[in-house]
Amino acid sequence: MRIEPGARIVGHVAVPGDKSISHRSLLIGALSPGPTRVHGFGRGGDTESTIAAVRALGGFVDDADDNTLVVHGADFRDAEIDCGNAGTLMRLIAGLLAGRNGSYVLTGDESLSDRPMERIAEPLRRMNAAVETTDGHAPLRIAPAQLHAIDYELPVASAQVKSAVLLAALAADGPTTVVEPTPTRDHTELMLEAAGIRVKRRPASVTVEPGTPQLDSIVVPGDISSAAPLLVAAALLPGSDLTVHDVGLNPRRTGLLDVLERMGARIAIFERRREGREPAGAVQVEYDELVATEVNAAQVPSMVDELPLVALLAAHARGETRIRGAQELRLKETDRIEAVADALRATGARITTHEDGWSIKGVPTRLRGGRVDARGDHRIAMLGAIAGLASKEGVELEGPETAAISFPGFYVLLETVVQR
Ligand code: S3P
Repeated sequence: MRIEPGARIVGHVAVPGDKSISHRSLLIGALSPGPTRVHGFGRGGDTESTIAAVRALGGFVDDADDNTLVVHGADFRDAEIDCGNAGTLMRLIAGLLAGRNGSYVLTGDESLSDRPMERIAEPLRRMNAAVETTDGHAPLRIAPAQLHAIDYELPVASAQVKSAVLLAALAADGPTTVVEPTPTRDHTELMLEAAGIRVKRRPASVTVEPGTPQLDSIVVPGDISSAAPLLVAAALLPGSDLTVHDVGLNPRRTGLLDVLERMGARIAIFERRREGREPAGAVQVEYDELVATEVNAAQVPSMVDELPLVALLAAHARGETRIRGAQELRLKETDRIEAVADALRATGARITTHEDGWSIKGVPTRLRGGRVDARGDHRIAMLGAIAGLASKEGVELEGPETAAISFPGFYVLLETVVQR
């Protein structure tokens, strides 16, 4: 796909429902004996995998309405589940299934089969779960077991690992506590609480009591990670003024907004409200000149999926930006430290990689442009598109279709706000 340079980004948009919250609404809906209505479900490749997973487990998912899904509880019959490209699905459902009395096999595509799964199998085994990986990877095999409550200190800041343990905790024999090195997204605990489970939240840990959730209805706010490429495009192109409405503003997800503000973009947040327990609102970005910043390990979880875009901002900002403590990026859909460095270098940026991040020497001008390979990674595809808009000569994007993993319709929506 050829991405031509853009002049500016102007307009008002809304983005699809949050992917993290959408996955969780189906999984917790599958555990709920009564029906669960999910408004604003974010449909995409990954969440389609979750719909199929719930169906494979005997759940009924009515998706006749475009905007509202209805989930009727699953019976957790034995199943082989294809998680596709969705790491969140594989890790969360492994925790959920560990205490369900069935035998399950979880498989994934080539990229997912390369990602580390021992990080969830290990705490689940401490809970007495019968979970086997294949040399630390998918396929995973889960057999029936009676789970025990544990106190678990996460070795890495990962919301997926935390969530796997918290979903297993529902079937344990007492309260389970997870301690986090750095706070990560808390959608699982917020949704369990909304579904009537006893949850005790502290700044660095969370305790969940066993029980059967009943999630009656939920409104999924727009995905801040899908809004991110549009917001970043507006921050890069002089004269831009973009507002994204109805977007999730959970503070554990909004690190990108803090970075944009620090770098000099003009950010306003309004229409603030809550959708259930999740903060939401509208975000406006107006272009202003950008300056370099620093991102450290403590900030990483709040913008983990947006870091490729932060690197792109940095390439256009005056001064040197250092992004460190982000070694988890090497374990995403692709090695994002290398993929981002290759993509930005190919378009003319000056970027050095470290084991845990990048140093980027920014120049407040357009990059030349060039060829970007998405490498089957949706976030890299969207990065390439925004890099093209902000470039002098445009970007030739290899594998653009992978954006549909999280954001079908991305290129069409983008075109509605680009002026050339
Ligand atoms: C997610 C958590 C993050 C994030 C992923 C979605 C979630 O992963 O990168 O896209 O829904 O819990 P980790 O928690 O493993 O870092």
